[in-house]
Formats: sequence, C-alpha cells, structure tokens
Amino acid sequence: MNIDQIFKDKLSKRNGVWIASDNSTFSDQSQTNDVFTDKWQKYSEDELKNQLKFFEFQKNWYLSLYNFKNENELKEFLISKEIILDAGCGLGYKANWFAELSPNTQVIGMDFSDSVFIARETYKNVSNLEFVKGDIADTKFNDSVLDYVSCDQVIHHTENPQLTMIELSRILKMGGELAVYVYAKKALPRELLDEHFREKTKSLSDKDLWEMSEQLTILGKNLSELNKTVKVPDIPILGIQGGEMDVQRFIYWNLIKCFWNEDLGLETSISTNFDWYAPSNAERYTKDEFLDMVRKSNLSGTSVHSEEACHSGRFTK
Ligand SMILES: C[S@@+](CC[C@H](N)C(=O)[O-])C[C@H]1O[C@@H](n2cnc3c(N)ncnc32)[C@H](O)[C@@H]1O
Repeated sequence: MNIDQIFKDKLSKRNGVWIASDNSTFSDQSQTNDVFTDKWQKYSEDELKNQLKFFEFQKNWYLSLYNFKNENELKEFLISKEIILDAGCGLGYKANWFAELSPNTQVIGMDFSDSVFIARETYKNVSNLEFVKGDIADTKFNDSVLDYVSCDQVIHHTENPQLTMIELSRILKMGGELAVYVYAKKALPRELLDEHFREKTKSLSDKDLWEMSEQLTILGKNLSELNKTVKVPDIPILGIQGGEMDVQRFIYWNLIKCFWNEDLGLETSISTNFDWYAPSNAERYTKDEFLDMVRKSNLSGTSVHSEEACHSGRFTK
C-alpha cells in the first residue's frame, strides 16, 4: 500500500522516515519532544536485555490496559484491520508488535521526537511498518482513513489533549476504535506539589533535575526501608483514600513522588522520578474527566480500566 495516499499533502522522507511535521510552535510541546528525543536515545543505548525486559513488561501491561485477554485476542482483533496507527510510538516496539501479529495490516508509527529515526533503523526490514515524524494533534492524515489508533501513554503529553483526541477521532473510519491512556489525578496535596514542581522544573538543567530525582529516590528508598505501615483515615476533601498502607506508598500517592523499586534498582528508579518531572506537558484526569473528553471527541464506550496511576480504554467512532 502507498501510505503517501492517505495523507492530505505529499510528504517528504528523511532517513527512511516520512516527515509530516518537524517541530512544534508551542514551547512546552517543543521541550517535551526534546526530553523524549533524549530519553529514547539513551534508552536505545542501554543493554539489549534491559530493553527487551522493558518491552515485555509493556506488552503485557498493554493487554490489560485495553482489555485483551491475551496476545492471541489482540492478534484476532488486528487481523481484520487494513491500516492502524501507533500514535506516539516512541521506539516503535509496539508498532512492530502489531505488524508482526498482523502481517497483512499496514502499521504506521508516528512520534514528534527523533525516536522515529531510531525506530525506522531498528525495524527497517519489516515490510508492513512505516514511521512518520509528526504531531498526533495535527496528523495530516485525510479524514476517516484508519481502522485502529493506539495512543498508549501519550495524549497527556500533547499540548491540548482534548483537541488531540478530536483529531485522532477525525482520522478513524466509522466503527474504528481508539485505544487511549491518560495519567490519573492523584490526591490534592500531590497534585498541587506536582503542578508547582513542573513549573519550576521547566527551567532546571538536566543535571539539576537528575540531582533532584536522585534525592527523591533516596527519600523513597529510606521510607521504604522503614518497612512500616500507617492507618490512614479517609480524607475525601483532599482526595486521600483511607486504609492501612506502607508509609512510602502513602507518601508517594498522596504527597510527593519519591519512586523507589528495589527490583528495578537505583538508576531506573531515579529515571522514573526524572521522567515524571522532565516533560512540560503531562496532564492528569479523573475518570469522569476522561470519559467526558471521550464523548466530546465523538467516541462511545464507557468501559474504563483504572489503576492508581492511569485510566485507559478502547472507544468506538
Ligand atoms: C511515555 S512515551 C510512550 C511511548 C510509546 N507509546 C510506548 O508506550 O512505549 C510518550 C511518547 O509520546 C510522544 N509524544 C508526545 N507528544 C507528542 C505529539 N504531540 N505527537 C506525537 N508524539 C508525541 C513522545 O515523544 C514519546 O515518545
């Protein structure tokens, strides 16, 4: 299939990647693109075994986020699709997964960071997979050309997530589906601190942000090593849910992001804290706000998968 024909304009190609948009006029989106360009560059230089471990974890998580019982159910779902988009594909491993599961489907991975060049290099021999550098808020696709759009862990990083969702709905065929994920709103004290921090971190150098992330990680580690639980009453006005919980988890979900995971180790834990604060764009939603955004995008369906960190679901045009 000639993917060129489903775009409004004739696209150019650079290093095997179609170029729909090269950069953003919004400073926050531009900063967000730079942060991800850096992140994916570093990631792709990490040991292959660590990358594969991360991809495996992500694929399993994807199945539960979007209500596929197993990989086979995803495969059956994809096989009937002619063209699908991985909107905000990062290193392209999910786009490649879709392409492998459904060899007769044309898969397109789009990202606004330079990760698409790495993705293209990695998967250049996959015949049903193409990469586009572009803004998923202004994809340049014609109306109603795609059967499935997967937008996993991305839309909250775009300049105006509601407008982005309307754009993703525009390019879906009638009856096509959007799989989408947003960050969940946490308790009020954590939200207020995060908002304030993100404003501040916009002007921090990578070195200073890394240092702060390291300090937060050590705080998380020390709290976690207390190995103590605390009985928390429900405090609904502050959005704090009661129960008996580990002290570090209580502080993490309600007050301050101080991620620590012993299995992942120090470096990955620091990166997790760094990645949270690094992008300027990172909106959070309640379940109702998420569903409202879905309705306003001319999509239907109410089945939402919610975890402490996120809301996700598949919705039909
Ligand atoms: C957390 S990563 C998720 C990547 C991938 N979907 C995954 O699940 O591994 C978010 C990605 O969204 C991309 N992104 C952010 N804003 C975007 C935009 N407006 N258009 C396209 N991609 C965007 C970033 O460059 C980054 O690669």
